[in-house]
Amino acid sequence: MENRLPFKPGSLLFAPMEGVTEESYRIAVSRAFPEWDLFATDFLRVPSQGLYKTQKILSHFGESVYQNESLKKKTTFQILTSERANTIQTVQLIDALGFEHLDLNLGCPSKKVNAHKGGAYLLSDLPVLRKILKDVRSNFSKCFTVKIRIGYRDTNNFEDLLKLFEDEGVEAITIHGRTRDQLYRGLADWSYIKKAVELSNLPIIGNGDVWNTDDITRMFKETGCHSVMAARGALKTPWLATLYRDYQDELNEAFLMIERKKFVEIYFYELEKEYRREGKKTENILKRFKALSRYIFDDFDEDGVLRDSFLRSRSYNEFSDKLGSLFS
Ligand SMILES: Cc1cc2nc3c(=O)[nH]c(=O)nc-3n(C[C@H](O)[C@H](O)[C@H](O)COP(=O)(O)O)c2cc1C
Repeated sequence: MENRLPFKPGSLLFAPMEGVTEESYRIAVSRAFPEWDLFATDFLRVPSQGLYKTQKILSHFGESVYQNESLKKKTTFQILTSERANTIQTVQLIDALGFEHLDLNLGCPSKKVNAHKGGAYLLSDLPVLRKILKDVRSNFSKCFTVKIRIGYRDTNNFEDLLKLFEDEGVEAITIHGRTRDQLYRGLADWSYIKKAVELSNLPIIGNGDVWNTDDITRMFKETGCHSVMAARGALKTPWLATLYRDYQDELNEAFLMIERKKFVEIYFYELEKEYRREGKKTENILKRFKALSRYIFDDFDEDGVLRDSFLRSRSYNEFSDKLGSLFS
């Protein structure tokens, strides 16, 4: 099959994150740090009863992103489904809206989602998974990919899963190197990513514990993967792709400290612009800024004094003043 992935080998992908990668966030980060090659919506849960209207699909993706041809091309639409859900109709609706790239979530470890036999649970039920893959594949005309963990309880059927994806017309596999039962414990096991690169003919996207530029280099080198995806590392360092692309030779401590302040400024500036455009109230912008500060200022100073001072801001102006004094 011709390769229809909307990104080239060696790409850096900003992972889908529920509660984080909503439209305004994706737009802001894509403007502040255009070195990311792909963004994704968090998962849209396919309903078991009734059907979504076009409007629901569009607002999950973001109408402004939908209108913006270049960002639309750089954004994956992710769904999460189960045997009982109305997959065919929902996928037909998504297809009719002309999205370039659909991703199926097979990694979500949430108890509630797994109890409904969706997300990572499907990695343990290959007959049902095959049926779902067929339903999606035969109703979506563009690029269709999956995002998985290395197993549900264990990794015994990992190789069978790789074969299944290839047989059913999936076009790339993102692999988070942990089982569902591991949740986020331990280190992601990249040897499974390497194994998939060796065994599968599909492009493999490596994911799990990519925190800095060295990790990106190591992931490419150790696994031979097509591209790399970062989630928590991207939330903490949204300029990670920029560092990797543009600053490889200069990454010493002093440089990073100076540049980091600049990046923080750009990040909050673009976020505020989007939040205002969306009509968010100032108090809600402050809430959002504080939530993101936990990650951004996580290790700015050793004892977390700076992070705590941002988290204690009682007003938007106070937060803003502190941000301003970072640069003076
Ligand atoms: C807050 C949060 C929300 C997430 N939401 C999603 C999601 O909606 N869809 C998905 O496929 N993965 C989701 N993930 C998983 C990440 O995309 C990624 O696979 C995982 O965190 C491992 O990568 P990391 O070590 O770079 O964080 C989420 C992760 C986090 C931390």
